[in-house]
Amino acid sequence: MDLFETIEIGQGNLDSVGAFARQRFGGQAKRAFLVSNRKVFGLYGRTVEASLQKVGFSTATALIGDGERFKTLASTEKVLAAMAAARIERTDALLSLGGGVVGDLGGFAAATYLRGIKHIQLPTTLLAMIDSSVGGKTGVNASFGKNTIGAFHPATGVFADVECLRTLPEREIVAGACEMVKHAALGGKSLLKRTKACFSDRTSLFSSEKLAALVRENIAFKAKIVDQDPFEDVKRTDGRSRKILNFGHTLAHALEKATDYRYFRHGEAVGYGILYAAELSKKLAICDKQDVELLYDVLHSVGVLPSLADIEPQKVFEAFQFDKKNISGSLQWILLRGIGRPVVFSGDHVSPKTALSTLEAFLKLQK
Ligand SMILES: NC(=O)c1ccc[n+]([C@@H]2O[C@H](COP(=O)([O-])OP(=O)(O)OC[C@H]3O[C@@H](n4cnc5c(N)ncnc54)[C@H](O)[C@@H]3O)[C@@H](O)[C@H]2O)c1
Ligand SMILES: [Zn+2]
Repeated sequence: MDLFETIEIGQGNLDSVGAFARQRFGGQAKRAFLVSNRKVFGLYGRTVEASLQKVGFSTATALIGDGERFKTLASTEKVLAAMAAARIERTDALLSLGGGVVGDLGGFAAATYLRGIKHIQLPTTLLAMIDSSVGGKTGVNASFGKNTIGAFHPATGVFADVECLRTLPEREIVAGACEMVKHAALGGKSLLKRTKACFSDRTSLFSSEKLAALVRENIAFKAKIVDQDPFEDVKRTDGRSRKILNFGHTLAHALEKATDYRYFRHGEAVGYGILYAAELSKKLAICDKQDVELLYDVLHSVGVLPSLADIEPQKVFEAFQFDKKNISGSLQWILLRGIGRPVVFSGDHVSPKTALSTLEAFLKLQK
């Protein structure tokens, strides 16, 4: 099926979400169950509800708390109970309106309610539009780790209005943009340059068609990678495996862990992770200096990242060990042979000594 039959990214199109949902869910679905949080629902919930009702859905809503700490089984259970109370049936459907927290949890509720009902993602953050709403990974956090409970449950559709990003705080825009730079670093120079051009002109960011077009292109890029390796085969190490989407994430996860998940937005940490992976690639003599400089240039153009001044290299280095890509005791590094040329390296290719010395030099450079 054509990807863009299942995905609609527009500008000022939120009031047509009902028609999209009707087309994706088919005529059998009678009830549309919305999952959101108070903030996002307060901004966009009524428009979405009215549009769904206009095409004949009856609607019911569950609101979860705002923030990563509410992405839990306890919140999911409340959503499932609200779905049962609203008498949602197997032919009915769920829509998640919000950022990645709402999308991951709503998707998981859809995956598990009556063993699975249809789900549409209505992402309202940049990160959710280009990353978390695509690829079918749903789930919640547990006491034993982030995203450790979940299911693959690809959405029946993804619908977004980039106008919704006007109300998104600047830090969230930068965080999403960093994940776009990640895609572009993996995708090639043309995408990288267009990403820079789009974010350099902040005054017209939301009023031009450019952002919607770039979001579409990012979704297509991620969808293509996911399609080649839908369940992220642990054994694969080729440059087309889904693992390459973890580019920049080894340092990102370590930075988040070393700061107790309180200091960085995830995408901001990915921004630094991209630069560190590029520095490591340069150190191993597989990537040119010019390509590394281009990545610095593009990242600086998308926004300002939080300072690394108080980050201790040793603490970050220790946090590398906890990364979930740490398979059979050996880390896997996603590096670049150049822009658009990712490689997966095992720990044997990158000695702990090289990783640490590059990290020390990198953190010093950022201060
Ligand atoms: N499933 C996947 O493949 C995947 C991929 C990447 C990330 N994720 C998950 O995504 C989550 C992060 O998502 P996120 O970055 O979107 O954060 P988020 O969902 O916490 O949203 C960020 C903040 O923006 C607010 N918000 C959302 N839309 C808004 C709007 N239009 N205007 C004003 N405020 C708005 C939210 O209420 C929240 O306070 C993490 O839990 C992460 O694990 C999942
Ligand atoms: Zn990420």
